[in-house]
Amino acid sequence: MAQQKSFSSNLGAIMAAVGSAVGLGNIWRFPYICGKYGGGAFLIVYLCFVFLLGSVLMMSEFVIGRRAQHTPIKAFQALCPKHKAWGLVGLLGIITSFFILSQYLVISGWTTGYVWNSISGTLASLGTDSGAISSFFKEFSTSQWDPVLFLSVFAVLALVIILGGVQKGIENVSKVLMPLLVLLVLVLCVRSLTLPGAGKGVEYLFSPDFTKLTGEGVLAALGQALFSLSVGMGVLLVYGSYIPVNDNIFKTAMWITACDTLIAVLAGLAIFPAVFSCGFEPAGGPGLVFHVLPNVFNTMGTTGTIFASIFFVLLMVAAITSAISLLEALTAWFSEHTGTRRVVGALLFFVLTTALGILFSLSLGSLSHIKIAGLCLFDFVDRMNSIYLPPLCALGTIIFFGWVLPEEDVKDELSNHGTLKIGYYRLFRFLARYVVPVALLVVLVAGMLS
Ligand code: TRP
Repeated sequence: MAQQKSFSSNLGAIMAAVGSAVGLGNIWRFPYICGKYGGGAFLIVYLCFVFLLGSVLMMSEFVIGRRAQHTPIKAFQALCPKHKAWGLVGLLGIITSFFILSQYLVISGWTTGYVWNSISGTLASLGTDSGAISSFFKEFSTSQWDPVLFLSVFAVLALVIILGGVQKGIENVSKVLMPLLVLLVLVLCVRSLTLPGAGKGVEYLFSPDFTKLTGEGVLAALGQALFSLSVGMGVLLVYGSYIPVNDNIFKTAMWITACDTLIAVLAGLAIFPAVFSCGFEPAGGPGLVFHVLPNVFNTMGTTGTIFASIFFVLLMVAAITSAISLLEALTAWFSEHTGTRRVVGALLFFVLTTALGILFSLSLGSLSHIKIAGLCLFDFVDRMNSIYLPPLCALGTIIFFGWVLPEEDVKDELSNHGTLKIGYYRLFRFLARYVVPVALLVVLVAGMLS
């Protein structure tokens, strides 16, 4: 029953999971909300959430995956054969991965397009005219063909990596791309921090202001802590099943959490000092990446083209390693479920998610008249993907882990059959059974009310 696939080393497992965790969220969301809700004050709360709650969820997915040696649905059923209905949590994970990947492809496509536009000089030719930069993005993202073309290029890249397999594809690519990502972000940090007036950006990010840390800010920290670690969609469960048997799951999770957080902070240092130095207002999301930053780069003159290219390559690297983790979860699940070769599942989900991604992309332009609950398709799926699906799947996972899975199994898996000390266990168990489920409920309810 053991699955034959596995990462070749602990380093490989860590790199692959960091690749999944580090995504657009680290770059366009974390720095902005950090500054908005009180800088250093927000950071303290975020660190508590990500290490105490996010990493517990991550460990629960790793334990379930590695113990069961199965993909999401079967993993739950194998660990609880009496109640096969727990497989539904796995199914929810698969559905979540499917929709997140389809939507992620759209934004990744824009990013790929901006890599091209920055290298080819198109972006630089817009100059420092904010209006021109904004309308360029609007035209680009709502046009019929460009986004579809770039989305497809990006999806093909992801497919090629997945077809390479777990070790030769995912692991080897992550081992190259993650150090490259760190290098790129460091280059941008040096540039950004040496601009005149950079100090204001550092102040925005770090100077603690507890008055800005509102309830909304605490909630944003919690949501970001969960989103950023990619928990709640079965992806880490699948990666967990590839973690070598003698790896320490606790240490692995701590490393991943630390790297993910560090890269988010570095992204902030690469972005906000430059934004403030050039006299722009802080922003987050697509507004930051596709409006503010191109303007910042263009005010730097000719070297701006180089830094713009570095930035968009960085963003694309972050996106591709997240996209492959999603495609891998779907591929692995399909091939286990149907007994077919990997290539079948990979191609099937490549086609399905690309098609859906194209539909979402067109829903921002020519198909914007199609509405669900008053929202265009893209906005609808964005809401599902951020508010409902991941917290729900995470909640199912942690309840299963904390209340259904026998405690001996958990201890046995965390201690590698008694060979590792697990001094953290009592705190861990308390968090997993009580604190994390309550936190997830809060996120879910607050999201619904928003
Ligand atoms: N963690 C990613 C980010 O910070 C986003 C994300 C959430 C994700 N869930 C995922 C990526 C699952 C890959 C797989 O941007």
